[in-house]
Amino acid sequence: MLMWNEKFAGDAYFYGVAPCEWLVMNRHRYPTGGRALAIGDGEGRNGVYLASLGLDTTSLDQSEVGLAKAEKLAAARAVELSTWHADLADIELATDHYDVIVAIYAHLPQPLRAHTHAACARALKPGGLFVLEAFHPKQLNYRSGGPKIVDLLYRAEDVCSELHGLTVLDAQEGLTQLAEGTGHRGPGYVTRVVARRD
Ligand SMILES: C[S@@+](CC[C@H](N)C(=O)[O-])C[C@H]1O[C@@H](n2cnc3c(N)ncnc32)[C@H](O)[C@@H]1O
Repeated sequence: MLMWNEKFAGDAYFYGVAPCEWLVMNRHRYPTGGRALAIGDGEGRNGVYLASLGLDTTSLDQSEVGLAKAEKLAAARAVELSTWHADLADIELATDHYDVIVAIYAHLPQPLRAHTHAACARALKPGGLFVLEAFHPKQLNYRSGGPKIVDLLYRAEDVCSELHGLTVLDAQEGLTQLAEGTGHRGPGYVTRVVARRD
């Protein structure tokens, strides 16, 4: 069974139902309409948040168990959310299609990560926004969650170099306090990026 299906099997939302703080902090940058895509959206907390802002939002994930809970959360919040059950390794994103793409703790291995970030950059319309938060390699020193494999951890510099054709508006690395369900809890060392398609 897919590891993520096991993690998402219970009734509780593993990372809670509140959106990632970084996504909310950038709210002033999002358009009031248009299309959004949340990659590796798990149980949908971030996709549901974008949908609640009026964006026509799709949650993409390889875990059908997570996406079923995303649909349940969207129904409970009375927002429209589309789900896309897929492995990022197997799909192509349409070019010039989205106004916002978010990757929150998606944690992909290389070379899939670089491939996916370049594909997200192409999939944005001119002016479209890419927002990412993920654990940094220094997170290996903390116990608040995240992968224990260095290849799955993200440095801001590396992420920015993968976003071809985007201008980086903000890129940060540092310690934050996480309180996201039982999955992310306590001090965590994160990378945060927001970039705009030229
Ligand atoms: C740490 S969870 C984060 C979930 C969600 N973004 C959140 O912050 O609540 C990582 C998610 O990425 C998804 N994921 C990992 N690799 C993937 C891939 N190759 N294709 C699609 N989804 C993937 C997993 O299924 C899982 O739901």
